Amino acid sequence: MKIIQSPREMQEFALAARREGKRIGVVPTMGFLHAGHLSLIDAARKRADIVVVTVFVNPIQFGPQEDLEQYPRDFEHDRRACEAHGADVVFAPRPEDMYAPDRSTWVEETRLSQGLCGALRPGHFRGVTTVVAKLFLLTQAEVAVFGQKDAQQALVIRRMVRDLNFPVEVVVSPLVRDEDGVALSSRNSYLSADERERARVLSRTLRAAAPALRSAGLEALEAIREAMALEIGKCADRVDYVEILDADTLEKPTLDTREVLVLLAAYFGKTRLIDNTLVQVNWKEACSCAN
Ligand code: PAJ
Repeated sequence: MKIIQSPREMQEFALAARREGKRIGVVPTMGFLHAGHLSLIDAARKRADIVVVTVFVNPIQFGPQEDLEQYPRDFEHDRRACEAHGADVVFAPRPEDMYAPDRSTWVEETRLSQGLCGALRPGHFRGVTTVVAKLFLLTQAEVAVFGQKDAQQALVIRRMVRDLNFPVEVVVSPLVRDEDGVALSSRNSYLSADERERARVLSRTLRAAAPALRSAGLEALEAIREAMALEIGKCADRVDYVEILDADTLEKPTLDTREVLVLLAAYFGKTRLIDNTLVQVNWKEACSCAN
């Protein structure tokens, strides 16, 4: 397995591989890899000749009050995990080689990135789309794998790829949970035992909501949402949002909605966790049956 630090070397390697007809797959990460990340590497392995895992704690997607400095890092662990999962290249650039001090170009999605985490973390998604666009160009990937764990991020990236005609197939891989239901996240390492125990409320509430969403009509959504927020509020130190939205548009669901995305963000101690689930619905038919 090759380790590349220099962006220029990464791009030269990738261009040479492309000239040989190789299909490159990329898995962008911020490192401190867990089984959720590794499932993305496995998914990329199935779809590409060369799998590049990028390990880069991207400074421009963190707000000034956020955890850039504390964000967990363990390159040796990441290197071993990538090797064990059959990655061909780990690209781990230094921030100063990714961003010139006088850089002045951004890639920004302006619709799907506005609500939810975008509203609470101003500039976050602009930092994500900018770095992902750079990583696509540096790795020359034809396929890129992202996790459903960051559902809004996946939608924003899909939209960027569509709007800017990136020649990249975006694959979104299922959310991986720990045995206790908690969604795997590098930030789980911040949690105390008590916070971890309380954090289980997120997946528990999502599981409980799914059957209610399927059986209840569109009119019941607000009541379900409020009940979820109440439940989460009992265990979390602060609830950032509980939203039930159309899974394709992130708009308010309508009778035509076929899939809803239930999205949660809450604090346990100083740690902000997100979780979500997709629920297939068919309110239109349920409606006409009743009539
Ligand atoms: P990071 O949080 O390290 O996540 C990297 C990728 O792993 C993302 O696509 C994320 O959705 C996925 N992932 C994380 N936890 C997961 C889980 N439990 N199950 C499935 N997939 C999971 O997301 C980022 O980094 C950054 O914003 C990045 C896209 C790399 C840009 O800097």
